Amino acid sequence: MSQREIQGSLFLIGFMGAGKSAVSARFHEFYGMKLLEMDQEIERREKMSISRIFREKGEEYFRRLETELLGELKGSSGIVVSCGGGAAMRDENVRRMKEAGKVVLLRAEPETVLQRIADSEDRPLLQGRKTPQGIRELMEQRQPRYEAAADFAVDTDGKTVDQICREILEKISGPESF
Ligand code: S3P
Repeated sequence: MSQREIQGSLFLIGFMGAGKSAVSARFHEFYGMKLLEMDQEIERREKMSISRIFREKGEEYFRRLETELLGELKGSSGIVVSCGGGAAMRDENVRRMKEAGKVVLLRAEPETVLQRIADSEDRPLLQGRKTPQGIRELMEQRQPRYEAAADFAVDTDGKTVDQICREILEKISGPESF
């Protein structure tokens, strides 16, 4: 994929289990973009898991790390960023994303999210919420901000990772360009 098609970097936002990690990994593997998994990068720097950061340092500390990390991407290009599910909740973060590139919202139904995250132990905000209703409640609180932050959105239910990537590329640069 040429840099003419994506100005700057590509930020994938959306709820936990919306497919941000899988889609960004594909952009990295097949389209040669550099990959930044925000959660993994924060875990690497802090030398502890997300759950442990929440438990020992608190959510606010984690949110500050997210904001700092996004700040480092100013002027970047060719990076696909898999954002943590809460990253788009802060206006400052969204401003940083928009300054640095395109913001794409991946949507998924609560039932799809549940299937995708069923085995995950490292999502502190889903503790005690692993039901369609529990997920729907948090998702509905967040959805307006996700929608407002995004340049455009892609529904992911029932689609393969490749289909989702193609849809994103089409929306960015038109069907003829890849
Ligand atoms: C969070 C989502 C997680 C992780 C943390 C908080 C959220 O990332 O950043 O557990 O607030 O939605 P994923 O969306 O990659 O699971």
